[in-house]
This record gives sequence, structure tokens and C-alpha cells, in this order.
Amino acid sequence: MDLEKLYDPIAEFYDIEHEEMDYDIGFYVQEAKKAGGAALELGAGTGRVTVELARAGIEVTALEISKAMLDAARRKAERLPKDVQKRITWVAGDMRDFEFDSKFDFVFIPFRSFQHLQTRADQERCLTCVSRHLERGGRFALSLFAPSYQRLANKQMFNSLGTIGLPNGAKLSRTERVTHDHVNQIITVQRTYDVVDADGNVKRKVWTFPMRYLWRFETELLLEKAGLEVEAIYGDYQRSEFRHDGEMLFVARKP
Ligand SMILES: C[S@@+](CC[C@H](N)C(=O)[O-])C[C@H]1O[C@@H](n2cnc3c(N)ncnc32)[C@H](O)[C@@H]1O
Repeated sequence: MDLEKLYDPIAEFYDIEHEEMDYDIGFYVQEAKKAGGAALELGAGTGRVTVELARAGIEVTALEISKAMLDAARRKAERLPKDVQKRITWVAGDMRDFEFDSKFDFVFIPFRSFQHLQTRADQERCLTCVSRHLERGGRFALSLFAPSYQRLANKQMFNSLGTIGLPNGAKLSRTERVTHDHVNQIITVQRTYDVVDADGNVKRKVWTFPMRYLWRFETELLLEKAGLEVEAIYGDYQRSEFRHDGEMLFVARKP
């Protein structure tokens, strides 16, 4: 899977689709403030979370593999107040293999970006890089979805993701089909984007992406193997106790 190109087909829709998604921001701001000092986001996308950390006064380095997503982030950042812009360093890079001269007090991978890594080798490479770049006592926050037994029991699922308006007046309607590969712990999401203009003409894009699902104790072992101590596992961004499905949010510490 070419992760560099994965988001190219939908980079133009990403911010419109996630305009109202802010339920995770407060959590990352709190964690970054608790850790103090500099933060590093991996898989920063168009800067949805990055920008809010910078607004909250946090110095943040945002690493992203997709040129299309990073270009969108940079364009968006140009419209921010200068002091906020100055707190962000955008970096083109791969979370599986990166090198900075300095270390960070807080590293985080929001919105399940880590699940784009499909092999154990890739996961371990990433977590080793994370651990190497954390200051002693620094913290790492990792967002995953908890595999749902109920959903996995279905061979495939169809979901309607609704319709949203585009700035040019066209409508974007989205549906998805999700299939499960239990042997490799991969779900494959095939999303159909239909852009319908005022005359009813339809332009269709189909975007397919696989995601690796991880179990709780597997994740704990991966973190420990990378030299990190698991501090907490939450079931949501309000820090509720972890349940068997929904979010699986890890906070770990570099001893
Ligand atoms: C679901 S988006 C999350 C974007 C942003 N963090 C947010 O919360 O809105 C996943 C992002 O991870 C990026 N990504 C995937 N694999 C990556 C890798 N190996 N290294 C860096 N970024 C990666 C994708 O290009 C995409 O922008």
C-alpha cells in the first residue's frame, strides 16, 4: 500500500467532511499541556488537530506523508494569526521512519492514523521512532478504534455517510462498504463519493483504504516493546473507562 498517495483522491473533501469534528481536540490540548513543552503530531493531515493545539499556545511539529494533505494544511495555516502560524512546523515525512534533532514532551497520533500501518514491522518501526523522540517522562497518545465483535461478525457492512453541501453549490453524498479480513486483522473500507451538481450531473470517485485493527493487549505489548509504559486506556475522549467497542485511546509514558 502506497501511503504517500492514499489520501490523494479525497484530500479536496477532507476538511469539508470533518468540519464539525472537534470532539477529540480538548483531549489532545489537555494532554499536551500536561506534558508541557513541544508536541509532535504524526499523520497530521490537513492540520485539523494541529491548528487547535497551536491556537492553545502549544509549539507543534506536524508530520504528514501525503503531499496533497500537507499542501491543504499549509494553505489553511496561511489564514491563521501570525503568532499561531509561528508555533507550527509542517514536515513531509513518514511516521514509520523519521528523525528530528530534538526530542518532544508529547507525541500523538490522532484519529486512527496509526491503523493505516498494516504490518507488525511497520507498527514497530513507528513506535520505535516515537519512543526515541520522547523526552524521559514524555507522553504518547494513540487513538485506535476498538474492534467491535458485533461488526466483525458481519462479512460486510454498508453505511450511508450522508450528504453535505460543497462551496460551489454541488452536493457530496457518501456511502461505504466495509469488509473484514479476520486472518490479517484488516478492514477494507470502500467509500463512494458522488458529487452532484445543480443540473443533476454526477461525478463519482471510489476510494478504497485498508485499516489494521488491533486488540487491547496486543497494543499494550507493542507499546511496551517500544519502551513505553501504558498509563491509561480510555473508551472515549472524556476519559471514560475502556469498553469492548468504540474508541480505544492509549496514553503511554517514556520512563
Ligand atoms: C484520518 S487522517 C487524520 C488526519 C489528522 N490527524 C486528523 O485528525 O484530522 C490520517 C492521516 O495520516 C496520514 N498518514 C498515513 N500513513 C502515514 C505515514 N506512514 N506517515 C505519516 N502520515 C501518514 C494520511 O496521509 C492522513 O493524512
